[in-house]
Amino acid sequence: MTGICCVPEANPVRNELSPASTGFVNEGVGMSERDLSLGTATSQRSAATPKVDPTATLGRPKTGTRLSRRLNALLCLQDFEAAARRHLPRPIFGYIFGAAEDNVSVSENRRVFDRYRFVPRVLVDVSKRSQQTRLFGKTYDAPFGIAPMGISALSAYRGDLVLAQAAAQSNIPMIMSGSSLIRLEEVAQLSADAWFQAYLPGDEADIVALIKRVEQAGFENLVITVDTPVPGNRENNVRAGFSTPLRPNLRLALDGITHPRWMFGTFLRTLLRHGVPHFENNYARRGAPIISPTVERDFASRGHLNWQHLALIRRIWPGRLIVKGILDKDDARLACEIGVDGLIVSNHGGRQLDGAVTPLDVLPGIVEACGSIPVMVDSGFRRGTDVLKALALGARFVFIGRPFGYAAAVGGAEGVNHAINLLKEEVSRDMGMLGICSVDEMTAQRMQCLPRCD
Ligand SMILES: Cc1cc2nc3c(=O)[nH]c(=O)nc-3n(C[C@H](O)[C@H](O)[C@H](O)COP(=O)(O)O)c2cc1C
Repeated sequence: MTGICCVPEANPVRNELSPASTGFVNEGVGMSERDLSLGTATSQRSAATPKVDPTATLGRPKTGTRLSRRLNALLCLQDFEAAARRHLPRPIFGYIFGAAEDNVSVSENRRVFDRYRFVPRVLVDVSKRSQQTRLFGKTYDAPFGIAPMGISALSAYRGDLVLAQAAAQSNIPMIMSGSSLIRLEEVAQLSADAWFQAYLPGDEADIVALIKRVEQAGFENLVITVDTPVPGNRENNVRAGFSTPLRPNLRLALDGITHPRWMFGTFLRTLLRHGVPHFENNYARRGAPIISPTVERDFASRGHLNWQHLALIRRIWPGRLIVKGILDKDDARLACEIGVDGLIVSNHGGRQLDGAVTPLDVLPGIVEACGSIPVMVDSGFRRGTDVLKALALGARFVFIGRPFGYAAAVGGAEGVNHAINLLKEEVSRDMGMLGICSVDEMTAQRMQCLPRCD
């Protein structure tokens, strides 16, 4: 299979992207490729101009098409999970859905929200409420964004581009994963607002080269994920038949045949148009192909990374530096001392250390320790009420992973936009019922913590 690989070697120079290499097509029914090829159109823009025209049409499917009917049946973020379970082969769905070991953290990530209840105010004029949120000098249209997810282009055709495009059109941030199969330059070309998340390569020379590449691509916000010194124990991936490298076998083939929309619309289409996907962004150079015996080795050498490596990045990275995966307030303080610009409190969606505390539980302590910089949070957020609870506990912003990954798989950019809109509507409706007109009014006074009975 590697014989048909035709993706050019990674090249950090943004303007060398050819239209062919950025070709981006949504899976949507009833949409022309031209309507949806924002990547092609924007790849030719210079770095100085805005990279996404926010007024550009996504090529929305005409009402009544199969895609729009499917999407209209999805009423909340959780609904995307069942739709993706049907759409994706078991190993691919299992990779997104899964967590670590006994699912203790991933379950607690949802349960924790039940400990809080709202205390609404009444007879407040909420007719002009707005959920716009300031973060890093920019005004976003919602207090939430898309968390980094690796290998997105395996579950959705050109997945990272789909996520970046939908986020740009909805004016929310999207963090591109360093474990992605699309070159970071393509995402930077598509959206001026995308952030980049890096997993640190093992040695300093590689770290410096990667950071330079990210800078040259034009990213302004760099997220360093620090909760993966060693890979989590994802037994569920093994049980679901998922591995990196992907090992083609009879089971995978059968799974593909029984999921033809994914097989033809994502997998074969990717192979035919772009060749075998490679890990494009773990290093300054191109990484291993996803179907390869060397992929595991690429990720194996992070155990020695420490605070000095973060300090090194702070010295060489001129943009905003955000650390993701903090759960301890002393770590938060150390990161602040090094000069990071923001923190994402996260247990990696329960995918790393099973039994790690849930971010909501430690959020107030971290905000207290590091309140001078924006403290963001992710893991388990699904509802507008969840987002508002985090804001009441001091978070500036919330990131969400799996549901947007499912949405990209099921409905491309249109699916992601649908998911964003559903959550935006929830936040707005909840704000109205809470009697608040801006996210700044979502304070601890609007919430009560129930006594713990465990
Ligand atoms: C399929 C998948 C891939 C992920 N890949 C990455 C990654 O490459 N880098 C990273 O920092 N976090 C990664 N994460 C963790 C997310 O960024 C985020 O912390 C988590 O998904 C939030 O929890 P939620 O899915 O419950 O919203 C991944 C999560 C999922 C579900």
